[in-house]
Amino acid sequence: MNHTGLLLCRLDELADPGSRGFELAGRQLFAVRQGQQVFVYVNRCPHRGVPLEWVPDQFLDASGRLIQCASHGALFIPESGECIAGPCEGAALTALPCHIVDGQVWLDDNF
Ligand code: FES
Repeated sequence: MNHTGLLLCRLDELADPGSRGFELAGRQLFAVRQGQQVFVYVNRCPHRGVPLEWVPDQFLDASGRLIQCASHGALFIPESGECIAGPCEGAALTALPCHIVDGQVWLDDNF
């Protein structure tokens, strides 16, 4: 398959559900896996502009179904990045479009 972009990781390197942090081109990112879908965001909470995680690679709440900021507990929907609870409710994480090809997760070429 012909495609362009920046290779992030293999899908099987992400637990399901699971998350992982990355540093690419000087930017802090994280990826969240939910089933066969992966969502990538800039690792910056819209509340205070700080990274979301305190423990490396842990961006999900105990249910594994929501993204959680460790600082003040804001909860975000993995599919949209929208904050649904916490101090920045209604704000959203910055999404980075990605796609999966042959079991590999790629950032789109507009990264
Ligand atoms: S910095 Fe994320 S909830 Fe406050």
